[in-house]
Amino acid sequence: MACNANCWCVVISISVIITAVVVVCVYFTTPSDPVFTIKDFYVSALNLSDISSTNTAVNQTIFFDMKLHNKNKAMGAYYDPVKIIFSYIPNIKLTFVVAEYTVPKFYQHQQKSKHVIETVASRGVVPYNREITSSVFKVEVITKVGFTSPAYRKKGTVDVVANVRVDQTGVINPKKGIKLFESGVGGLGLQIGLLILSTATILVVT
Ligand SMILES: *[C@@H]1O[C@H](CO)[C@@H](O)[C@H](O)[C@H]1NC(C)=O
Ligand SMILES: *[C@@H]1O[C@H](CO)[C@@H](O)[C@H](O)[C@H]1NC(C)=O
Repeated sequence: MACNANCWCVVISISVIITAVVVVCVYFTTPSDPVFTIKDFYVSALNLSDISSTNTAVNQTIFFDMKLHNKNKAMGAYYDPVKIIFSYIPNIKLTFVVAEYTVPKFYQHQQKSKHVIETVASRGVVPYNREITSSVFKVEVITKVGFTSPAYRKKGTVDVVANVRVDQTGVINPKKGIKLFESGVGGLGLQIGLLILSTATILVVT
């Protein structure tokens, strides 16, 4: 099964195209934004089994464990300071900010996770009434993230939110954790990535 010049030419062309596509995939595929997950959350002032939560000198702190995960296989992530905003939603008509926390800027290798475990001072958290079975908080994360890939080094805004429910003991419910999601329109980045990829492939083939 000998190969003539024509045949080798085809083999080499195909190899070049495959290599080019792999390079394009690694360097130009749109990176995924980091994933933020609330793993644990405890609001002392809403622990109704604690009798002191009725008086005004109640412990006004929020304990949380947030996981920041860079799921990209080939790109490290540069985070700007990560602002975490906690709002209390005592009833459907009312939302107000009760605490804020900022994670200093940092770099995260590909497929690595970081846990931010903190107790923050809060203000104005009181149970809506003594009979409620759960209370809701809004947790919002705002930051900018860039990646090690030359095409995505410029930092882009990340703004994700989730509602976190705590039960009558002030503990997150369900306990398995809550992933934050984009509040605005998403998916545009992926389409642009595919567009660049298909354009590059056409350029290589022709
Ligand atoms: C809630 O308050 C009770 C009574 O003070 C206490 O025993 C319990 O540990 C508290 N719950 C949490 C999750 O800290
Ligand atoms: C308030 O609650 C937090 C978290 O549950 C705890 O770490 C802290 O020691 C408490 N502070 C006081 C003054 O009880």
